Amino acid sequence: MIGSANGRPISITGLGCYVPERILTNDELAEMVDTSDEWIVERTGIRERRIAAPEQAMSDLALPACKQALEQAGLDGADLDLIIMATVTPDMAFPATAAILGDQLGAVDAACYDLSAGCTGFMYALAQAYGMLAGGLAERALVVGGDVLSKILDWTDRSTMVLFGDGAGAVVLQNVEAGGFLGFELGAEGAGGIHLWLPGSGSRVFDDPEKYVKMNGREVFKFATRVLVSSAEKVLKECGKSVEDVDVYVPHQANVRIIDHAARKLGIPEERIVVNVDRYGNTSSGSIPLALADAEADGRLQKGSLVLMTGMGAGLTWGSSLIEWTNGGMIAA
Ligand code: ACO
Repeated sequence: MIGSANGRPISITGLGCYVPERILTNDELAEMVDTSDEWIVERTGIRERRIAAPEQAMSDLALPACKQALEQAGLDGADLDLIIMATVTPDMAFPATAAILGDQLGAVDAACYDLSAGCTGFMYALAQAYGMLAGGLAERALVVGGDVLSKILDWTDRSTMVLFGDGAGAVVLQNVEAGGFLGFELGAEGAGGIHLWLPGSGSRVFDDPEKYVKMNGREVFKFATRVLVSSAEKVLKECGKSVEDVDVYVPHQANVRIIDHAARKLGIPEERIVVNVDRYGNTSSGSIPLALADAEADGRLQKGSLVLMTGMGAGLTWGSSLIEWTNGGMIAA
């Protein structure tokens, strides 16, 4: 799916994020399985990650991020008419975590649902919310991305447990005077789904009753390096922009080698890339909003900055978006 924005300008008017307090270092992991800080840093660039407390579920991580995003946009929960939560680790299968958040935020007029597209969930959710606003169905949407992957990892499997961390981010989408989203490109290759999956987590019965993330790292690596480049190239072309126009590149934070490979192929200079995988690991749907929040804190998201975001993950799925940053600029309701 690909398209450029051709209607009313819609942008991100509020941004928030949250990570749990507990920091888990590579050295601590090396006490649990046969691995080392050196191996993890060299192969992934990850130095530490945040891990949720036993009593913390998805909505507990998402709520502070949502409140921060709403505050920045100058809105209350009651102003929202849409909440989409992108996650593969909801509080439970139902009710939707978005509905739990809607209740906690007092969003009495909002449609609330969860969206499952692996680590690409945030990009899919952004596109959906954009479409709802562009079509006139909604005016103020909250898009939340996050995961608590620590709860579904096999902590004896060194090939997966070193990669992931917990975290969440949220953005508010509203109509603006000018700027905002320029376009989206989303896709999926279901045939590759078995390379990153959670067998036994739904209605399909498996012989292996363990409900842990299973991954073919090499296949996912090849897929990720391919689609990070192809999706970015497609959305840039669709929007009539070139790589030279990109001020800030926000790729999914899975592995620094994947990010470096994509940036090199695309020709994006290092100073324009946002990288925080060293501190958070792969936070799945939380990754892109957490990276956006870092870029904002560093002063890299200026009014008029062209921001390229690309995610990829389970499905296998991918998604890109281009946005001209607006620093708010919302139209008064
Ligand atoms: N510590 C030490 N050794 C390890 C570890 C570890 N944590 N994990 C694997 N190894 C070993 C393997 O067993 C293997 O040993 P062998 O040669 O004796 O069999 C050796 O290291 C090399 O394994 P490879 O899989 O070839 O290592 P590679 O260089 O491919 O790195 C990695 C593995 C980091 C998982 C890489 O393939 C990768 O990053 N893949 C993509 C993973 C990813 O990003 N997943 C999520 C993306 S989508 C989403 O975000 C949900």
